[in-house]
Amino acid sequence: MAKRLVVGITGSSGAILGIRALEALRKAGVETHLVITDTARKVIADETGWKPEDVERLATKAYHIDDFFAPIASGSFKTDGMIVIPCSMKTLAGIATGYASNLLIRAADVMLKEGRKLVLVAREMPLSLVHIRNMEAATQAGAVILPPMMTFYSKPSGLEDMVSHVIGKALDQFGIETGYKRWHD
Ligand SMILES: Cc1cc2nc3c(=O)[nH]c(=O)nc-3n(C[C@H](O)[C@H](O)[C@H](O)COP(=O)(O)O)c2cc1C
Repeated sequence: MAKRLVVGITGSSGAILGIRALEALRKAGVETHLVITDTARKVIADETGWKPEDVERLATKAYHIDDFFAPIASGSFKTDGMIVIPCSMKTLAGIATGYASNLLIRAADVMLKEGRKLVLVAREMPLSLVHIRNMEAATQAGAVILPPMMTFYSKPSGLEDMVSHVIGKALDQFGIETGYKRWHD
């Protein structure tokens, strides 16, 4: 059966990561359930020139950030996990403390309570102790913190190669192959 993933895009820098992740998941035949925060809508337009509605069209289904009646708000809706890409420090804080103030954080909360895979592509620089403590709490609760680190060993020729590397590493967490350049490939 095809995989089904929840995808969250927040208003941290790196909106292109969320877009490329959705494209890769579509190519891999994964069913995607997308929720984009209000700030992410603005950052998507500012950083990439994409319209948020066009990003939503990359997903199988997209939900409004305040729609707590959406299927992904419930643990009874079966999924193979969730990726938040990119993940802001604000959303990380909500996930780490269980303060489910919007649908994205509620969906992440569901992943943790159901023991499902939750990957947070947490992006900020530098990190405060607050951020690090929230990462620790989220990790202890079962999430995987996967920051969009720069890659060097793959000898990237530019930003798109770096982005592909991050997407490849992130989707490896779900056993989804994207064909990115691995060490010794
Ligand atoms: C252009 C832009 C870039 C931002 N980059 C980051 C970032 O890299 N990391 C971060 O945690 N917040 C960043 N922020 C701040 C978040 O957007 C802000 O904290 C917001 O409240 C996050 O809300 P959300 O998680 O609901 O999207 C950025 C904001 C803007 C406008």
